[in-house]
This record gives sequence, C-alpha cells and structure tokens, in this order.
Amino acid sequence: MKDQGSIEGLRTEHLAADDAGIARAADLLKAGRAVAFPTETVYGLGADATQGRAVAAIYAAKERPSFNPLIAHVADLAAAQHQGVFGREALRLAEAFWPGPLTLVVPLAETCEITDLARAGLPSIGLRVPAHPVAHALLTSVGQPLAAPSANRSGRMSPTQAEHVLADLNGRIAAVLDAGPTSVGVESTIVSCLGDELRILRPGGIPREQLVDVIGRPLPGVGEAGNLERPSAPGMLESHYAPRARVRLHAEAIRAGEAILLFGPFRPAGLAHAAATVNLSPSGDLAEAAARLFSALRELDESGAPIIAVVPIPPVGLGEAINDRLARAAADRPPG
Ligand code: TXA
Ligand code: MG
Repeated sequence: MKDQGSIEGLRTEHLAADDAGIARAADLLKAGRAVAFPTETVYGLGADATQGRAVAAIYAAKERPSFNPLIAHVADLAAAQHQGVFGREALRLAEAFWPGPLTLVVPLAETCEITDLARAGLPSIGLRVPAHPVAHALLTSVGQPLAAPSANRSGRMSPTQAEHVLADLNGRIAAVLDAGPTSVGVESTIVSCLGDELRILRPGGIPREQLVDVIGRPLPGVGEAGNLERPSAPGMLESHYAPRARVRLHAEAIRAGEAILLFGPFRPAGLAHAAATVNLSPSGDLAEAAARLFSALRELDESGAPIIAVVPIPPVGLGEAINDRLARAAADRPPG
C-alpha cells in the first residue's frame, strides 16, 4: 500500500470490529500506539491517556497544535469519577446521557492519571462515556482511559467511516478498527461544568433542548459571554470541518457550477444547473441529516465543484450542531 503521508513508515492495520480485531487494537493501545476506533458520533484516534508518549503519537499523526486539549473516553461513570470531580449537576447530566454523545468538562480528581499532554496542561478534563458497543468493549479491554480526538488530520472533516480515517491517516497510525458508518454523525455536545454555571462549549449529538429538560433552566452556549471556544473574530474560528471547496450557507438559489447540499423538500432556484446534489434527509429528519453530514460534504467535495451551496437548515435540536459544523466549514475560506 502506498502511504505518502507516512511519518514513521507505519503500515496501518485495517481491523474488523470482531473479538480478534478488538483484542489486537487493545494490545496496540496498551503498547502505547495510536489506534482509530468507532464511537457513535465519529471515529476517534485513541491512545492510552495515561502514557505521555502514546498521547504524543496522536498529536503527531493529526498534526494538531498541542495546546488543544483532548477528550478522555472511559467505560462508565465510576471510571469517569476516578479522573474528574462531578458536582450535582454534572452528575445529573452523566446519569441522564451516558453512555452517549455528551462530553463533560470537570475539575481534575486527585486520583486523575491522565497525562498533562492530553489535558494541554489544564486543571480540568473533558470526559465521555461513548455508547458504541465496540468503543465500550475496547475501553473495557484496555482498562485505561483513552484520549481520542476525531480521527482526521487537523483542519479536515471528522470521519464517520473507517475509509475516511484511512484517507487522512493511512501510514500515520497503527490501526483502524472498522465497524462501518457511525450512527450520530456529529461530535459530542461539550458542556463545561466548572464554576457555578454550566455552559455549552460545543453543540453536538445531544441537543440543547434535552440538556435544558434535565437541568431545568436555559444553558448559556456557543457565542455567549465566557464561552471558552467563542471565536473572537471570524478568522479565529477553528478551521475544523473544512472541505477543499468553499461553502456557501443559506443558499436560496444556485449559481451555475455549484454543488448543492439539500435538506428536506426545499428546492432552490437554479437546481438544474448544480454540478452535484446530495440531500441530507429528503424527509427533513435532523438525526438522519447529522448522520450523513460529513460523508455528504466529502461526496460533494469529490465532485470537484469550487463551491458547495447549502440550503437553510433549521437551527433546532440536532440542527444546532449541523449549523455549527457548516459555519466552521464556511468560515475557513475567504468569502466568494
Ligand atoms: O464526539 C466526539 O466528541 C469525538 C469522539 C471521538 O469522541 N471527539 C472529538 O474530539 O470531537 P476533538 O478533540 O476533535 O474535540 C474535542 C474538543 C476540543 O475542541 C477541545 O478544545 C475540547 O473538546 N476540550 C477537551 N477538553 C477540554 C477542557 N478541559 N476544557 C475545554 N475544552 C476541552
Ligand atoms: Mg475534531
């Protein structure tokens, strides 16, 4: 296999997500190697979060700036409480949504074993209990928290299939554990549980409305005062989720040559002139749309069209996370 992106001359093993594949992945992880594995949101690039050198392999493979902290994945709430301190409301969220697509940022516990490098030196830790059965089996088998950012090169779209992982990281990681396409399709919702106010740092697979139902009051979120991830200028918006093509949002009419991302029954003017078309969900189902978002963007990007025009998508429920990812993809390029 040709591996132009190789950094260590690695051959990346493509493992089936059966008992043997999971056992092999666990052995590689225990030995301090970086292995991509499925979660219900996107594929993560995992390493033993307690081994500094293993975590360094993640940053090297992704070419990720090392000041960006990683999420630590654990098998259950008890394992999470070994690493972080859960206040009353953090506990309520964990009990309501774990296992599932929610990451809680909490203060470090005294028993925390997660290396400084995974936390980017912060006195807090982002913890998540994934719901994917393969992720759960892997975590149980390794017996240590796994640091895992999305398994893409920095600045590219998150992978929802093993093939996406290999397109970015073949020859740069030890293995990918292949369980087919992920079900949620956008990354976890991140809630900061530091200080006396909960905050949504990133919209994601658990819709805001469901968090509010459990907490019983509105949660400040993205773009609101004090948000750690709040971009201070469009140019500082994290250049995540970027296809090669430019992305044009809220398109109500298509210009000749554009590729078009549709949602529901809405048909923009000029559709007949589109270079390529994908509908995220013909029936207008936001969960289906989230699950297909990143592979749809990849498919439209592969059409070679210079611009991907996106029709309006309602900003409610999972639509908040979908619009957030699209805005980041659009912000990565100068307008035009
Ligand atoms: O669904 C997901 O969350 C996927 C899967 C693999 O679990 N992971 C993921 O990780 O999206 P990543 O590294 O691409 O995004 C993690 C985000 C980063 O924006 C990081 O800044 C934030 O989590 N984060 C992690 N720890 C944090 C902390 N202690 N304080 C604030 N933000 C934190
Ligand atoms: Mg990512």
